[in-house]
Amino acid sequence: MKGTVHYEVKEGVAILTVDNPPVNPLSDGVRAGLVDGITQAENDSNVLGVVLTGAGRSFIAGADISEFGKTPEGPSLDEALRKLEFCSKPVVAAINGSALGGGLETALVCNYRIAGPAAFVGLPEVNLGLLPGAGGTQRLPRLVGPAEALKMMLTGMHVHAKKALSMGIIDEICEDLIKDSIKFIQKVSSESENHPKVRDLNEKVIEARGSDNILLEAKAMAAKTRKGQFAPGQIIKCVEAAINCDDFNDGMKKEGEYFIECLVNPQREAMIHIFFGERAASKISDIPRETPVKDIKKAGIIGSGTMGGGIAMCFANAGIPVHIIDQDADNLKRGMSVIEKNYEFMVNRGKMTEEMKDSVFGLVTSSLDYQDVSDCDIVIEAVYENLDLKEKIFRTLDEVVKKDAILASNTSGLNVDSIAAVTNRPELVVGTHFFSPANIMRLLEVVRGSQSSDETMATVMSVGKKLKKASVVSLNAPGFIGNRMLFGYTAQANMLLLEGALPHQVDQALESFGMSMGPFRMLDLVGLDLGWRARKLSGTEPALPSKIGDQLCELDRFGQKNGKGFYNYNEGSRAPNPAPENEDIYKTVSAANGIERREISDEEIVDRCILALINEGADIIEEGVGQRAADLDVVYINGYGFPIWRGGPMHHANATGMTEVLNKLNKYHELTKSDTFKPANLIQKLAETDGKFGDAPAKEDRKEKLSFSESSVAGNL
Ligand SMILES: NC(=O)c1ccc[n+]([C@@H]2O[C@H](COP(=O)([O-])OP(=O)(O)OC[C@H]3O[C@@H](n4cnc5c(N)ncnc54)[C@H](O)[C@@H]3O)[C@@H](O)[C@H]2O)c1
Repeated sequence: MKGTVHYEVKEGVAILTVDNPPVNPLSDGVRAGLVDGITQAENDSNVLGVVLTGAGRSFIAGADISEFGKTPEGPSLDEALRKLEFCSKPVVAAINGSALGGGLETALVCNYRIAGPAAFVGLPEVNLGLLPGAGGTQRLPRLVGPAEALKMMLTGMHVHAKKALSMGIIDEICEDLIKDSIKFIQKVSSESENHPKVRDLNEKVIEARGSDNILLEAKAMAAKTRKGQFAPGQIIKCVEAAINCDDFNDGMKKEGEYFIECLVNPQREAMIHIFFGERAASKISDIPRETPVKDIKKAGIIGSGTMGGGIAMCFANAGIPVHIIDQDADNLKRGMSVIEKNYEFMVNRGKMTEEMKDSVFGLVTSSLDYQDVSDCDIVIEAVYENLDLKEKIFRTLDEVVKKDAILASNTSGLNVDSIAAVTNRPELVVGTHFFSPANIMRLLEVVRGSQSSDETMATVMSVGKKLKKASVVSLNAPGFIGNRMLFGYTAQANMLLLEGALPHQVDQALESFGMSMGPFRMLDLVGLDLGWRARKLSGTEPALPSKIGDQLCELDRFGQKNGKGFYNYNEGSRAPNPAPENEDIYKTVSAANGIERREISDEEIVDRCILALINEGADIIEEGVGQRAADLDVVYINGYGFPIWRGGPMHHANATGMTEVLNKLNKYHELTKSDTFKPANLIQKLAETDGKFGDAPAKEDRKEKLSFSESSVAGNL
């Protein structure tokens, strides 16, 4: 059995301490320990009551996810919680640290809740495609009211002790938690024999009866922030039951039914895949765990543009002082004012106080002099995407920055080895590919150069963690992971346009599939002119998929930046309006290239675009450019708006079945004759054995070099 609960009696109070490192999940040993501990306390006539707490920094961090899908051993969670709730003596939850999910639900069956100052509580099950299934949906609305409970359960947010006290989730905050909890038990046991149970507090749920407003607001919030997800609707139905059922047990029964529906829904598996996938992605398979990590006390950023400013905010938000250099005084001034405005916006939205803003923004300094980053432990370059310019900057950085500092480039697609080669410290050079806006997007692709040392890689991964990023390692190969997959995806969207679809049809089909933004809205946002200008400069002809975009640029249609691209935009608005004036261009370009336009179904649109991601992804795994299939899913969910509830493109392929994927690839290969759909070797192999991505171990020789064309993939989009 996993985990235990220690039992001791102090001053007439039984102390039950959950011990199941690292975060005290409710594994079988813990559940058994709770049942035994309460029985022992009830049977000891010298014991006045029980204090339940956790060993280490966590109270109880929730259910044991590793038990999902298995037959649980020992007492069920329901049995353990009943034992606590119906204990004949008062029980205090002494919340010493995180009380999340099943942890908070455990605290909610105790008669009283006292927290240490560093404690925090929350019901984050929604992030795993689940709902709080141990009474949380019935008890929390009784304590804090249905509206606040819904907000907590639909966001999965953490609520810190002070706020939890003001909301009524906890009764007191104490410095000396165990000592004060013992005193508390001594006091309440002498005052009364009846101790409150959350299940009996009906006032707040009855108050909400007869009005739909709370539920309607929750539905609107879920539709906006958790589009396509199954669990939020189930949570709302549970709270509806809490409001309307006269008998608490009827609400519990409904919660149980809705929980099972979540459990068997494929979204649950997909979201748990991403939960574990993000943790796995942060580990580099061939680097020993004990590899030393450099302490990053100060960061430097070169370039105060879109990316430089966002990256600087990431460091400041993590409490790391950061210095920005630009070559242009006006750009630097503008860059610093954008950062300040972003923080002001957060203050206005109530996301930070004025004092917090001053202290965080106070960590960001700037100047025009490269010497000012000489004492930094890491310097990240984020200037224009130009190899000559980046090499020049790295030569300078190599001269001025202290010898053991890491030098990183935010390049979207240039060869990191070429950049490293101009320095005398190639082992300290890596790519750190942040996504825009860098202060918001969670993805960080860490590009491993052929000479990047283990220590450099381990350090950058730990920096990513400090910056709260989902970090994924890519070998230094064209397009890295994300943009390489995106290339085929956008090419297919453009081909569909040439073959007869219209931008809004393509976008709607993919947005209905769950993508947060269709490809043409995305291209308009990025700017159609980037690739067009790059091709003009180098004198290269556009490939077939780029022809329509280039034609639009010839007519000054660059995308959102000038209010017209694939769509039209009203001034100051990002909302896309169809552009019927473009339709003649589509027809002309199709005809000029010998393509007969036809009706295209939404199914074909989704299949072709998503298969392009999967087929390229398979090659990326087989070549070892990405460490594991789940890494690619983490990239697509955190950087490219792929729906989390589908678990990423590679998980989606697994869920579809590899034979079905292979059949579809063959079908579209036949139809389009495009290499994009020529089934990847790995898919063919997996289909033979009914295998899945993730079954195949990552390639052993991960440092094998791949041919690297100097052309930036970003420039091809
Ligand atoms: N914008 C994106 O969406 C995005 C996303 C991921 C990666 N990237 C990559 O990030 C890098 C920066 O892109 P951006 O969009 O932030 O560019 P940007 O045009 O917004 O900003 C570039 C800044 O670099 C400064 N600069 C130019 N030469 C310099 C020098 N020698 N020394 C100091 N500063 C100098 C410029 O004055 C400007 O302020 C590029 O490599 C790009 O490919 C961009």
